[in-house]
Amino acid sequence: MKEKILVTGGTGFIGSHTVVELQRSGYEVIVIDNLSNSKVEVIDSIAEITGIRPAFEELDCLDEAGLEDVFSKYGNIKAIIHFAASKAVGESVQKPLLYYRNNIVSLINLLELMPKYDVKGIVFSSSCTVYGQPDVLPVTESAPIKKAESPYGNTKQINEEIIQDTVKSGAPIQAILLRYFNPIGAHPTALIGELPNGVPMNLIPYLTQTAIGIREKLSVFGDDYDTPDGSCIRDYINVVDLAKAHVIAIDRMLGNKQKEKVEVFNIGTGKGLSVLELIRAFEKTTGVKLNYQIVGRRTGDIEKVWANPEKANKELGWKAETSIEDTLLSAWKWQQRLREKGIQ
Ligand code: UFG
Repeated sequence: MKEKILVTGGTGFIGSHTVVELQRSGYEVIVIDNLSNSKVEVIDSIAEITGIRPAFEELDCLDEAGLEDVFSKYGNIKAIIHFAASKAVGESVQKPLLYYRNNIVSLINLLELMPKYDVKGIVFSSSCTVYGQPDVLPVTESAPIKKAESPYGNTKQINEEIIQDTVKSGAPIQAILLRYFNPIGAHPTALIGELPNGVPMNLIPYLTQTAIGIREKLSVFGDDYDTPDGSCIRDYINVVDLAKAHVIAIDRMLGNKQKEKVEVFNIGTGKGLSVLELIRAFEKTTGVKLNYQIVGRRTGDIEKVWANPEKANKELGWKAETSIEDTLLSAWKWQQRLREKGIQ
């Protein structure tokens, strides 16, 4: 058995895929999650995939005493991967204090406890949202951080700064900040995937729910952008590929391979795809015709963004591997599985 890793938000979309990859690499995983946006059954599904049941504690990261109990109960936790956060952009505009409290205080609690329990480092879920609309594409890690479009985006920026400042102050910890582009898809077993609460806000869950008949039609938000077909462009990254980047980050941290105490990496494919291209790719690979219509722009949307992932490719030896076709098929298989189970 390798070292113990604490995964906050480990029953969520990216968290659950990362727990699987960590276990596959031999790490012992302890999951904490308050189940505010996920289900405890995900732990069973993880165990079904890997044959190993991760330890699970139902806990909110705002509960510092509860967190402390976890550190002392399990002992010798070497690193944390911190996914637990509220993530709905629109909701964050309505409820900014909820977002600032949840996302910022949770991180502070972890950072305060790390030195006391000899936790070496933290891998933080950041986002390409910190770049806003980049002036230069593909965007590199050294691009300027733009003013956040939403309280949610602001929490990502602030949390990056909190980590930087804490390490700069001499705290005996290291960090790797992973800036994700648009994570999509599901595990190829279709045992874990994205489980949106209510009406999905993100493109892929809305698209697969439309394809299966839960939603009548997909709205494409705008076809008058300055892009080849007029729809917005994103860098869609397969969730299993993304999960693997976390394992590599942990290996690097615990193997003393970091070049700086805080390292930042873009985690994307390096390819931009428009909403209309994605719809076409989905129709072609699944053979399912999608009912969609072009509507007006969505407030706050970035026109186009895709990653320059060279730093992650070279430094981490990580590369996005899964094709967009296989990724879309995995998302479709997951949606069909949810239907079979009568969930959605
Ligand atoms: N889109 C549609 N119709 C939909 C949903 C989305 O056309 O029903 C379009 C959006 O306009 C956008 C693209 O699909 O062009 C992707 O939209 P998502 O909502 O899936 O993803 P975003 O790029 O808006 O959001 C992502 C992350 C957020 C992050 C945000 C920052 O999911 O966590 O980037 O811009 F904050």
